[in-house]
Order: sequence, then structure tokens, then C-alpha cells
Amino acid sequence: MEQDKEVRFPSSFVWGAATSAYQIEGAVAEDGRGESVWDRFCATPGRVRNGESGAVADDHYHRYREDVALMRQLGLRGYRFSVAWPRVLPLGRGMVNTKGLDFYDRLVDELLHNEIEPYVTLYHWDLPQALEDEGGWLSRATTDAFVEFTEATVLRLGDRVKTWITHNEPSIASWYGYGWGIRAPGRTEGEAGAVKAAHHLLLSHGQAVDVIRRDVPTARVGITLFLTPTYPVSENGADVAAAQYVDGMHNRWFLDPIFRSEYPADMLEAFQQHLPREAGGDLQLIGRPIDFLGVNYYFRTLVRAGATGEPARVRPDQADFTDMGFELYPDGLFHLLPRLHREYGPKRIYITENGASFTDVPIHNGSVRDPERQRYIQRHLEAVARSIEMGVPVDGYFVWSLLDNFEWESGYGRRFGLVFVDYPTLRRIPKTSFEWYRSLIAKQHATAWARAPDQPSGRTSRQR
Ligand code: FCB
Repeated sequence: MEQDKEVRFPSSFVWGAATSAYQIEGAVAEDGRGESVWDRFCATPGRVRNGESGAVADDHYHRYREDVALMRQLGLRGYRFSVAWPRVLPLGRGMVNTKGLDFYDRLVDELLHNEIEPYVTLYHWDLPQALEDEGGWLSRATTDAFVEFTEATVLRLGDRVKTWITHNEPSIASWYGYGWGIRAPGRTEGEAGAVKAAHHLLLSHGQAVDVIRRDVPTARVGITLFLTPTYPVSENGADVAAAQYVDGMHNRWFLDPIFRSEYPADMLEAFQQHLPREAGGDLQLIGRPIDFLGVNYYFRTLVRAGATGEPARVRPDQADFTDMGFELYPDGLFHLLPRLHREYGPKRIYITENGASFTDVPIHNGSVRDPERQRYIQRHLEAVARSIEMGVPVDGYFVWSLLDNFEWESGYGRRFGLVFVDYPTLRRIPKTSFEWYRSLIAKQHATAWARAPDQPSGRTSRQR
């Protein structure tokens, strides 16, 4: 393996890892949790690989103490997780289930006790099924239910949780869930459904920003977007236009309303017809100032124009791929971050997800060697460090993921963790990338302290 380049980060940089509720918690029928669209989707034959589901997942609901101990061992300063809406409001709105909130209360206390800062995502795709039955994100009323969920959660945890992420990847939630039907709730409404769902997701983001600021004035609020820099395969005008379209659909359709209170003009030609009537009036709310942008980066998108000019994805030659088929392309992150800084000027940026899946298996002595994952993370960290040198305010990096987990329609067939999970026994086995990340964090703390002895290193005081 190539030699690691030395990467240097500011002393306040947040070293983290991320997960989401449905992917790790299990315990789907416990303590009054309601049904989510993912329970229903997984129970529908043919939707998820081998009919798998998050019913048990990593059983994190019961093993969270062991998992927090692993985080402490890693030296994490931040942990990003999501709150399951159906645990808090089993029917999506109305009755609050205190027992559901108790779980997050315990988790937050355990994290803080271990000097790990919680970064809480409110919506990571597990919509209560009762709301889906009334139209889900195609219905404007769901945005008000999201406000109820936000309020209940923030009132309970806001005295200790200082950083809130309203949504995870609204583009994926809308296109995969409502447009193409690849993920829950599995609706195939095409562009019309995706655009409508996306608008409601964005609107609910703006509403939640207001609620969080009102209830916890000192909180920091942001949103996490899936962003993929797009490149035309050639300088040919049709290819360039096709790439511009894909950029509009995945990136600008979400960035522009959030940072500029407007939809991108070139995309409106195609998408305006699908927007709800009230959309124009919602844009001010959607564009409420936020404290940070969360960036999930996995790969770039290479595009060419098809026969009638329609955009077609191109699989690059001679590239390295993860077993999800994601191309290893850290330069994409290096192009993306300065662009975000230049064009949208978010106050702060966190890389809220980045990571790789490989078919890891324990070897005869029980250890799990994953040099490819280490290389993937290292190369992306180099891209982050270069961006910071250029003046982009990136404040933290969260590996996806702490643990192997339920990877949506791919079930347990994809492993993203720094920690291997042996699903039959639920035993956790740190992979070699875990040890590597641990020592990288420790080294960064050591050099950060040495460089700036008089500066406090973030919020935690523990010497690592
Ligand atoms: C992201 C999701 C996350 C996980 C990773 C691999 O799109 O936010 O839950 O599935 O991809």
C-alpha cells in the first residue's frame, strides 16, 4: 500500500463517525415504537436483498453502551446518529411515546459521560408508516407532523444536544423513495413524485430550523446533503449540458433553495410543473440561515448525452471501485468543497458521511483486515486537508460508518464499518481500519496540542 501522506488538521477539528437509527438499532417492536416505512418495505417480497430487514440489525438499542465504549476507544470527539421518528411519535403525530425518547436520553448521557459530542439527525428516512398511509412526503401535512416530531425531540434532548441536522440527503429520500421506488416507501411516481416530495422535505427543514432556534436558542442547526460533483465525459456541448442537468437535479436543486431561497432557473423549466402551488411562498422559509452544511460524499458522477440528449451515467475506465460500485475519486471532494465555499458560502461544513464498503471477512486468527477502506478514508482526508488549506471552513469528518449495518435495499450484503459485526452472534470486531483511525486521531490531537498549547482543543477536556 502507498505510504500515508501526512495530513494536518486544526486543533478544533471534530473527528467522528456516523450511523442511522434504522440501520443499527433493531428492537423494532420495543417500548412502543410504531411501524416505519422501512419495516413495511422490508416485509414486501422482492424489495430488499434476501428479504432482510432492520428488525435486529446491530441490536444497538440494547448494546449502545458497548458501542459508545468502542467510540471512546477510537478517541471520537463527535458521533452522528439519528432519532427514529416512530419511536417518538408512533403514529407520526399526536401521542408522544416517552419510552422512545428515554432511549435517546440514555444514549446522549452515555456519550457525554464519555466526552463525545452528539450530532443528531432528525430524519434519516424512517418515516412513520401511518404518515405514509396519508400520502407521506407527497402530502404537505407531513411537514407539520415533522415539526411536532422535531419539537418533542428537541424539548427532551436540547439541554444536552447542541448540534442538530434536520434531514439526511433529501435528494435520495425523494428520488429513491418516491421517484424510482428503489427505497422505502418504494413509490414509483417518477419526476413528479420526486420533485414534490423534495419540496416538502425542504419546507419541513425550514420549519424545523425555526422551531429549534425558538426552543434552544444556543443550538446549531444544519442539514446534510448528498452531493456528487458531475463531470461531462467530453467538452462536447451536448455532454456538457447533460452534466449540467445532473448537477442541477442532485446538487443545485437542494443547495439553491437552502442558500438562496430560489430553485435553479435552468431546472425550473423541467421541474416547475411538479411543484406544489404554494412553493413560491415557501422559499423564504426554506432559505432560513443555517449554521453549517453537512456534506455526504461518496463518488463523482461522469455524464454523457444519450441519443436524444438525455443524460447517461458513464462508468469510468481504469478506476478503483468499492464493492458498492462507488468509484474511488477523492479529487471529487477536493473540487466540491471549494465550490461550495465559493458559490454558497456555508458558515461551516462538516463531512457528515464518507466511507467505503468491502466484503470484509475475519481471517483464521479472528481479525479483519481492510486496507482498502483505510486507503479510501486516508485519500479523502487528504482532499479535506487541502480544502482547509485553501480556506474552506471544514470543521469535522464523520466516517460512514462506525459499525457494519443494514444497508437499505442491499441488506447486510454491504459492510461499511470500522467495526465488523458478526450478525449471528452480534459480536463486534474492530477492523484494522479502526486501529488506523484511532492512531490517526491520537496523532492529530498530539500535534494539535503541540502546535497551539494555549488554545483549547474543542469542547472536550480529556487528554487523549
Ligand atoms: C448514504 C446514506 C447512509 C448509508 C450510506 C452508504 O447515502 O445516508 O445511510 O446508506 O449512504
